[in-house]
Amino acid sequence: MHRTATPADPLRLGVLISGGGSTLENLIHRIHDGRLTAVRIALVISSRAAVGGVEIARRAGLPVEIVRPRDFSDPDAFSQRLAELLDRARVELVVMAGFLCLWRVPPRYEGRVLNIHPALLPRFGGRGMYGRHVHEAVLAAGCSESGCTVHLADNEYDHGPIVAQRRIAVAPGDTPDTLAERVMVAERELYPAVIQRAANEGVGVLKRIADEWRSAGGEPERR
Ligand code: GRF
Repeated sequence: MHRTATPADPLRLGVLISGGGSTLENLIHRIHDGRLTAVRIALVISSRAAVGGVEIARRAGLPVEIVRPRDFSDPDAFSQRLAELLDRARVELVVMAGFLCLWRVPPRYEGRVLNIHPALLPRFGGRGMYGRHVHEAVLAAGCSESGCTVHLADNEYDHGPIVAQRRIAVAPGDTPDTLAERVMVAERELYPAVIQRAANEGVGVLKRIADEWRSAGGEPERR
């Protein structure tokens, strides 16, 4: 099941979005200019219709589906619809990219759903911890560093085995906006790097990296 992808037979990504789509846009650019290889975005699913990310996806000619939680009777029905669409598009790796809904990952997608969070998890994650709120909380806590985390998603917000982190120093005089900007630069590098490894080595590598991370006590090789 976990195969090595090639440019001729790329890893099929499903990208889940809810907002501006800058994470999606970064992936699109990198695929176009050849910095991210052997992957194809097979499907974009947005939990909101009128958001920038949907425009970005359509402009890039990508298939887009809108799946709004409020159109479903409960979170299970919503999650089931997501899985159906991903199955139909033969998605091999799900990339959450600013997706603000809780998704109950079905067993067949375990170890195949990535999320990126703009802080050093396990701190500063969870419901309501997104966008500016995260950076405000980091500054309010007086942290000397922040960064971003890529993790395998489980069924809690911003939770699941950590695959990679990139750390950045908090500068004196940082505001939530200046900090967000530098974290974003780190995200733009880290997420594609993890996805590239999954393409090159097979999606199963994500679980292996996460296990190494855990056995190293959460202080693994810093990527
Ligand atoms: C980033 O902070 C990322 O860490 C989080 O969503 C934000 C980007 O949103 N998961 P978008 O890609 O611009 O919609």
